[in-house]
Amino acid sequence: MEFIVDQLNDLMARNLYRRPFTVSERHGCRVVIEGKELLSFASNDYLGLSQHPEVMKAAAEATMRRGAGTASSRLVQGGMGFHRSLEGKIAEFKSCEDALVFSSGYMANVGVLTALIDEDDVVISDELNHASIVDACKMSGATVVVYPHKNMERLNQALEEYSLIEKILVVTESLFSVDGDLAPLRDITALAREHGAYTLVDDAHAIGALGRDGRGAIEHFGLQGKVDFIVGTLGKALGGLGGFAAGKAEFIDLLRNRARSFIYTTAPPPGVCAAAEKALDLIVRDPKPRKRLRDNVNHLVHKLHRTRFKPLHRESHIIPIVLGSAETALEVSRRLLQRGIFIPALRPPTVPEGASRLRVSVTAQHTRDDIDRLVEALEAIDIPAVT
Ligand SMILES: Cc1ncc(COP(=O)(O)O)c(C=O)c1O
Repeated sequence: MEFIVDQLNDLMARNLYRRPFTVSERHGCRVVIEGKELLSFASNDYLGLSQHPEVMKAAAEATMRRGAGTASSRLVQGGMGFHRSLEGKIAEFKSCEDALVFSSGYMANVGVLTALIDEDDVVISDELNHASIVDACKMSGATVVVYPHKNMERLNQALEEYSLIEKILVVTESLFSVDGDLAPLRDITALAREHGAYTLVDDAHAIGALGRDGRGAIEHFGLQGKVDFIVGTLGKALGGLGGFAAGKAEFIDLLRNRARSFIYTTAPPPGVCAAAEKALDLIVRDPKPRKRLRDNVNHLVHKLHRTRFKPLHRESHIIPIVLGSAETALEVSRRLLQRGIFIPALRPPTVPEGASRLRVSVTAQHTRDDIDRLVEALEAIDIPAVT
């Protein structure tokens, strides 16, 4: 199949070829790859909950009691009690009337957007929104208007331009997954309300880390009840797998009837749901990991500012160091690997051309020594950094 080989060769020639590493072991932020122990700054397990003893126990017990799988989609064999139990907990966590669990955050975005909007509607989307939002917007068939990253003037312009359209949906990530900066959610919700538009916020990376009780960026900005539709994932700070939508009861009811990525797929298994429920309890119950995460971020940002490797943003635990070409980013990543540090290079199409980078993901499990080790390793690299 020549066309496949051609495509692969083309990716290799442009330094865009990807091959997933095989991690044989993972203990917190330490991973073993090809027999070598590495310090990882590549994980979304921001609070270390994926290996928390209580979370693992909840998953194991639920699996032993109810089985490894659910054997059907929710609408075929009927949802099991543990799905509704988790959904009740998510709704409470996000201060919403109801919630619906999906098999992943990607599927949640696809299900929500395609259920809410169609060819007659307009969706206005930040240019840096995650691929799952981009794909979902396309699948919906709605007119998609993309505004420059966080540019409220352009968002306002788009809202005015389409003011005759009955249903307009503004969609944004709350904490941008690749740039690590926060969306101006207060301005976005206010503008949308002013123009009679709806808002959808993907809170994937903020849950567990932001807000007084770790409920995410919507809590951080005091916007509970002001966002129409919320999407999140159970696979990042919650340490498990799955996604969810939360909002008014009628929204969730519509999703159960219209969201194809909910209807036509096997329901999440008991262990996955039990783990997520326990993780939500722990986030609210124990603020210490969240505080450690913040302290670690402050320490790293402070140290990086004294080096050539300036962070693009310092608003969160996602700290991007932009290096320019894919080749440079790959080389820096390789050199770090030689020094026992694992941070894969993000390259196009994940990031724009010329903005390849290291996405440094800080977690509550890193120690100050770990962070110092990363900074020392970066400083020892003789490649000029571009920001
Ligand atoms: C903003 C955002 N939304 C959704 C997703 C998808 O979540 P999941 O990994 O649960 O499919 C991601 C994952 O990278 C993300 O960053």
